[in-house]
Amino acid sequence: MEKKLSFAYQKDGRLSSCKLIVQKDYVEFLEVTKEEPEIKFTYSEKKITIEKGTTEKENTEKENGKIIKLIKNHKILYEKVGKYFSTKLSFPLPILSEMGITEEEKTVTIKKGKKQIIIEKSKSDKLSFVKKEETHMEGKIITIKVNKGGVGKTFVSLQLGAYLSLLGKKVLLLTSDSQNNILDYSFGRKKITFDTGLKEFVAGREGEIIKLRENLNFIPLESSTFGSQFLMKLPNFLEKMRLEYDFILIDSIPTMKIDSTFVKCSDKIIIPVFCDEVTVNGAINVIKEAGVSKVLAVVINKYSNKKIQNLLLKQIKDSIEGTDIIFPEPIKSISDIEELLYKGKTIWESNSKNIEGVKNSIKVIGDKLLEKEETKNEFNFDF
Ligand SMILES: Nc1ncnc2c1ncn2[C@@H]1O[C@H](COP(=O)(O)OP(=O)(O)O)[C@@H](O)[C@H]1O
Ligand SMILES: [Mg+2]
Repeated sequence: MEKKLSFAYQKDGRLSSCKLIVQKDYVEFLEVTKEEPEIKFTYSEKKITIEKGTTEKENTEKENGKIIKLIKNHKILYEKVGKYFSTKLSFPLPILSEMGITEEEKTVTIKKGKKQIIIEKSKSDKLSFVKKEETHMEGKIITIKVNKGGVGKTFVSLQLGAYLSLLGKKVLLLTSDSQNNILDYSFGRKKITFDTGLKEFVAGREGEIIKLRENLNFIPLESSTFGSQFLMKLPNFLEKMRLEYDFILIDSIPTMKIDSTFVKCSDKIIIPVFCDEVTVNGAINVIKEAGVSKVLAVVINKYSNKKIQNLLLKQIKDSIEGTDIIFPEPIKSISDIEELLYKGKTIWESNSKNIEGVKNSIKVIGDKLLEKEETKNEFNFDF
């Protein structure tokens, strides 16, 4: 399986650390736990081998100042992302350079051995059949959609994007709404100006990309009028973005023609729903239009525990029962969210207890996206 490493930098721009997210099934395979995260880390012949346990004797062998062998005790880190933990393996930096891993070529191959995991730098001189594998590693396009305003499409898009980016994924946010509320929710009252954006890119020129957070970029939309040229060229641009990003999330508005192109190009759709009759019916329509298999999640937002809302909640839950569509815990209507958006903070930048449930619901969706990616890559590996 191929994986990208994520780098962290010091303030002066020097590399400070390099990490690899270790998927749960690998950690379980090694029988490493949060209580006993110790591993034996061995580097030799451009390969890293990790296994549970410790070595009595740590050892470094050098030749011409270069590390050729290293055995040391090490840990798989359980890192906090908001309230949640993710498992990461930290790479000693001298080993990185020995393996020839650079910021441009940061893909490694992970294999399971006999109670061991073996990590190697991915070969860049790929054979043609390996190229095929590469196309499977392209980023995924997800549209956040429902035929109603004010439901939380922009909110969900941003928070989900922020979650994935915190886990080291490269995320691009796009929108079909020229109000570009993503900017308001990311920066609060600090006004961000731009001249060009998506239209410029689709026309084949360089538009502006706004960095919202680390690994989280946004391309704004200049206006809400689209020519036929734009609609024709949009799919091509999206395909190009797949090569640069792990996830492309599209914050949509329903009234635009551009929306159906976005949906066509998407691998999955996420539907935020407010529990009123109109929105629930709208959501059921989106599921019918897009097809059940294209819908990744239905997430209730701005929920309050009231009779009618509960009735509609049950109705929508029943209508997706038996499908693969995930249905996270409803996100409650809370003033903390309004306050965070007003201040331009993401939910992951808040420690408020009230936000925990919200984080959990977004995490459920994000983890599902990551899990899909895993099985996709696993399949390639077996191939
Ligand atoms: N769970 C929530 N609780 C309270 N306010 C919310 C919640 N979700 C969204 N909002 C507020 O609702 C408004 C609309 O949300 P937004 O994400 O812009 O919806 P959409 O993109 O579907 O039009 C925003 O002002 C936001 O602050
Ligand atoms: Mg919006």
